[in-house]
Amino acid sequence: MREKLENIRIKALEAIQDATDLKTFEDLRVNYLGKKGELTAALRGMKDLSKEERPVIGQVANEVREKVEQALASKKEALESAAQNKALQDEIIDITMSGKKMPVGKLHPLDQTLEEIQRIFMGMGYEVISGREVETSYYNFDALNLGPQHPARDEQDTFYFTPDIVLRTCTSPSQVHTMENQSLPIRMVAPGKVYRSDEVDATHSPVFHQIEGLVIDENITFGDLKGVLLEFAKRFFGDKVTLKFRPHYFPFTEPSAEVDVSCVMCEGSGCSVCKQEGFIEVLGCGMVHPKVLEMAGIDSTKYQGFAFGMGVERLTMLKYNINDLRLFYENDVRFLDQF
Ligand code: DAH
Repeated sequence: MREKLENIRIKALEAIQDATDLKTFEDLRVNYLGKKGELTAALRGMKDLSKEERPVIGQVANEVREKVEQALASKKEALESAAQNKALQDEIIDITMSGKKMPVGKLHPLDQTLEEIQRIFMGMGYEVISGREVETSYYNFDALNLGPQHPARDEQDTFYFTPDIVLRTCTSPSQVHTMENQSLPIRMVAPGKVYRSDEVDATHSPVFHQIEGLVIDENITFGDLKGVLLEFAKRFFGDKVTLKFRPHYFPFTEPSAEVDVSCVMCEGSGCSVCKQEGFIEVLGCGMVHPKVLEMAGIDSTKYQGFAFGMGVERLTMLKYNINDLRLFYENDVRFLDQF
């Protein structure tokens, strides 16, 4: 019996010594000290011993049990602290290591231009209005004094859903909604997408952006219109810019003009960007036609106003010297990254 206990002790201590993980350790603990363990079984055999032998062997048995327990306890501590060290080691963060650069997006150049234009007009006390991209032909044509025979109504130019519902061909219908719904005086700009049945090329796209402007009050003159547009152009292109107003025809304004800015590249002396003209057309404008005012329910004997509409792509191309409209819609990051 003594020998048996000694063997258990040697075997157990060795096995415990060799354990390298908590699972093996747990198996050993159960194996020796558990209810069905080897040591427990040996101790159970004590009852068969003689009276003399029992206390002696009992003492040995206790010693063995104590040794095994001690060995288990210190092994447990060692394994746990090794596990903790490993966890700490695994979690080490090298704070000197350079990080991964996250690519940061930015606003599309057209949105940047739209925001800048809105900011300039808001600074002059204008409200920003959002119009509708789908319009009835009344708002897109009739209310703007484009009669039934007007060529812009042709299906070659306009996208029709039904004979009466179209994708707006310009932002001017937002003038009419504003006049119908807002109280006077009015000072607004309305940015947004417009649609024309055009083929895509370097200067045309079936979808592009405009900003409409409208001011209605008493005693508004063409001089106010010129002053506002010059102030806008200076803030957008820089102080050196000058404007040229050329008489033009629009059905919804009278008188009407097209406006050219002095070329931002050559400042008016002539270059390839302005095709040697020194000036480049950027917008249409005029004094709101009395018929348009009356149709929207405004007394044209008391109120006047001016309106203008400009192409956002055009302005952006001029400002940054971009020569192909398609670049705006291809979403090539190499292009977009430059703005
Ligand atoms: N709607 C015109 C166009 O798309 C631009 C325009 C011209 C707007 C004169 C106006 C204006 O408000 O007064 O070509």
